[in-house]
Amino acid sequence: MKNQRVLTGITTSGTPHLGNYVGSVRPSVRMSLQPGVQSFYFLADYHALIKGSEPARVQRSTLEIAATWLACGLDPEKVTFYRQSDIPEIPELTWFLTCVTGKGLLNRAHAYKASVDKNHAAGEEPDAGVTAGLFMYPVLMAADILMFNAHQVPVGRDQIQHIEMARDIASSFNHLYGEHFTLPEAVTEDHVALLPGLDGRKMSKSYDNTIPLFAPREQLKKLIMGILTDSRAPGEPKDTEGSALFQLYQAFASAEETAALAQAYADGIAWGDAKQVLFERLDHEITPLREVYDRLIQNPAEIEKTLKAGAEKARAVATPFTGRLRHAVGLRPLDSAVAGPAAKAAKAAAPGFKQYREKDGQFYFKLVDAQGSLLLQSIGFASPRDAAQAIALLQQQGPAALAGLQDRLSHQGNHADLDAALRHFSEGAP
Ligand code: TRP
Repeated sequence: MKNQRVLTGITTSGTPHLGNYVGSVRPSVRMSLQPGVQSFYFLADYHALIKGSEPARVQRSTLEIAATWLACGLDPEKVTFYRQSDIPEIPELTWFLTCVTGKGLLNRAHAYKASVDKNHAAGEEPDAGVTAGLFMYPVLMAADILMFNAHQVPVGRDQIQHIEMARDIASSFNHLYGEHFTLPEAVTEDHVALLPGLDGRKMSKSYDNTIPLFAPREQLKKLIMGILTDSRAPGEPKDTEGSALFQLYQAFASAEETAALAQAYADGIAWGDAKQVLFERLDHEITPLREVYDRLIQNPAEIEKTLKAGAEKARAVATPFTGRLRHAVGLRPLDSAVAGPAAKAAKAAAPGFKQYREKDGQFYFKLVDAQGSLLLQSIGFASPRDAAQAIALLQQQGPAALAGLQDRLSHQGNHADLDAALRHFSEGAP
């Protein structure tokens, strides 16, 4: 996990519930504390606009979700924690990507296809009620990810297709304009079971069966007492299999505690008592977090300040990178060099990375200068993606990336020439 960039976004369209906590917040905060990982967490408020027009709800949800992540231990000093709409470069990149994205690719997105299928079933026009925002959702998401050249994107399984699309879009752009983007990979937590909701189905806003993570204590208790169980009487042995109550407990308890509850089930614990056990276990974990959460919610100005500081950190990456992308696509000051018919020749006269496959089946890259002499030669990589990631690092960080790549390079040319060539990419020289 050395020098990996991990990025994920949370759509600001609801109140965080236990399912979000177990499936996303808790594992992400843990991951962010690992050494060698550079993490980006953001509030996807542009995405929230796609789901409807409730301005007050978007604002409230942004506050609640920000407070949740901070209360659960995300350290804004260690990670980059920001709000999507504070980064104007993201919609700009969305447009660059829009222009290299096949419409057919977007036609195949699950969320869009589901809307079309629903319309079809209802005898409506295929695109009835579908906004262009819903259709473009995967491109905006690709911009979120590619802007920071994330390697890994922790998401729910329903989002895997979007990460694959981000890879496709990145490849198209790289192919047309040079290796600017790292190809991201989805990371799903396979061992985290989906948390059941009050009615035993998957806990989800759309089923209206959620337990808000920071419900006040009394409300938490009331909700837990309302979890659906079967009608077995006290003293009758109970099944852990298929018991929502048991699964909820398991997501919070240690292995020993879980085994003890399984034994109590076999011994015929009354449902009311089992619910009390669950309530106490949950409350034990949540109470200290809730105290921080409640304090933060009372201080929106403090959260606003934290997010603004995060945006500054994020833009320290996004602004120069977008500048290079603008240059790459041809949005350039008119007095900068290379315009008109000379452009083609100039392209050939610039240093360039070449990626190729050798007979040994491995993937290599090299950097050659404007005259075609070799400046850098890589070792063989198992996948083209590994080679592309090394190239992306060199292009973004310039000579500074060399130190970290020593073991992936088999040859380095003249120091000054190499330096100049790498700066050509990292500083976006014409
Ligand atoms: N679409 C994601 C969701 O609904 C949220 C999101 C937006 C996201 N942009 C992202 C997740 C970028 C990961 C990376 O869950």
